[in-house]
Amino acid sequence: MKVSVVGTGYVGLVTGACLAEAGNDVVCMDVDADKIAALERGEVPIYEPGLEPLVAENVAAGRLRFTTDMDTCVDHGLFQFIAVGTPPDEDGSADLRYVLDVARGIGARMDDYRVIIDKSTVPVGTADKVRSAVGEELAARGQDLEYDVVSNPEFLKEGAAVEDFMKPDRVILGCDNVRTGALLRELYAPFNRNHERVITMDVRSAEMTKYAANAMLATKISFMNEVANLCERVGADVEMVRQGIGSDPRIGFSFIYPGAGFGGSCFPKDVAALERTARDHGYTARMLQAVEAVNAEQKTVLERKIVARYGEDLTGKTFALWGLAFKPNTDDMREAPARRLMEGLWARGATVRAHDPEAMDECRRIYGERADLTLVDDRYTALEGADALVLVTEWKPFRSPDFDHIAATLRDPVIFDGRNIYDPAVLAPHGLAHVAIGRPQTT
Ligand code: UGA
Repeated sequence: MKVSVVGTGYVGLVTGACLAEAGNDVVCMDVDADKIAALERGEVPIYEPGLEPLVAENVAAGRLRFTTDMDTCVDHGLFQFIAVGTPPDEDGSADLRYVLDVARGIGARMDDYRVIIDKSTVPVGTADKVRSAVGEELAARGQDLEYDVVSNPEFLKEGAAVEDFMKPDRVILGCDNVRTGALLRELYAPFNRNHERVITMDVRSAEMTKYAANAMLATKISFMNEVANLCERVGADVEMVRQGIGSDPRIGFSFIYPGAGFGGSCFPKDVAALERTARDHGYTARMLQAVEAVNAEQKTVLERKIVARYGEDLTGKTFALWGLAFKPNTDDMREAPARRLMEGLWARGATVRAHDPEAMDECRRIYGERADLTLVDDRYTALEGADALVLVTEWKPFRSPDFDHIAATLRDPVIFDGRNIYDPAVLAPHGLAHVAIGRPQTT
């Protein structure tokens, strides 16, 4: 089937490459000529496991093409995916400018029936705005062509996006008529094997499903961070509590890991946008406000623990940071807890020596050259001249390091464990103290 995807960011590129892999004829369009030129050379601008070979193979097979030309894009696909960014406005609401620009671009060019699919995360009611934008352009051209608008939110996790697309838990289709439902079921048939994964519903419910899913996951995390903070105060161990409650299938083990706060491009943005939507409709979403407030506070937790050990003034202190990305297997540092931590440490006069397997270029891009930041290629080099080690992102190579080496290199042999990945009983024989989240500290 012929598919066009507008926007070659993380969502658009994964969607385009995976639909091409399933045998479709896909054109991906972006206004960024440099990005398109790089993609044509087989260079994928983001770090996402499995994506680069997938793009390369499908380009080589002639199933995946890239263009900067909107005429080519609209002319090509029966399916027109809109996968452009919806950055947050100052007030937390999602900025729909790019989505609606694309809708107008499609309306201005289409000369046959098109299925227009909102893939970007967009507030409830956006499909109606897209429908109007397309309709206005058609009317301006005196055309009366048929088209449908579908909400098909994505549920990809960074670092596992290709796998999530290929083997989805569910495919949400928000359609207003049977015709589009049938067409999209056919498009998604290769990903809907063994058991039914397609859930068809009305457009507004599909739009809401995306926000509700992310807000629920974010709520689990903030809830657990709050439990962790309570555990510290009452002398309980959140790791025990986590296992104790996760074993109840109604609660489950996923997304109840406490840490230094959630980051990334989705949870913070989507919780804020849903909260804003609530306000726009005269409703105060107290739970969502609490999720945000707890998370903002949690991002300071590592700094507070460092201050508790060394005092408010950290002048002359050096901290080794393991992990900069907001989570493992990505180079993304949007809303990353490491940013809040580094900025807090710098404001107190400390110096940071950091290592991340993928996100160091991104860190350089964000912060540039600074005297109080040294980025090093090796995790152990980060420890040289450091007072303490702070684990911020739970990348696999950080899980079983040489603890003797760490203890011998640090001035103060302590690990601030922002993801609770180390066992204090394992660290103790190596002479390493452990300061974690919601757990009794060892000194
Ligand atoms: C999230 C959702 O998990 C995807 O289903 C969704 O499609 C995506 O947003 C999106 O809207 O595009 P993502 O932001 O890539 O995916 O990352 P997650 O793995 O969900 O992690 C988000 C943050 O929560 C990270 O900072 C992570 O460290 C934190 N987290 C996660 C916790 O602190 N504790 C947990 O138990 C789980």
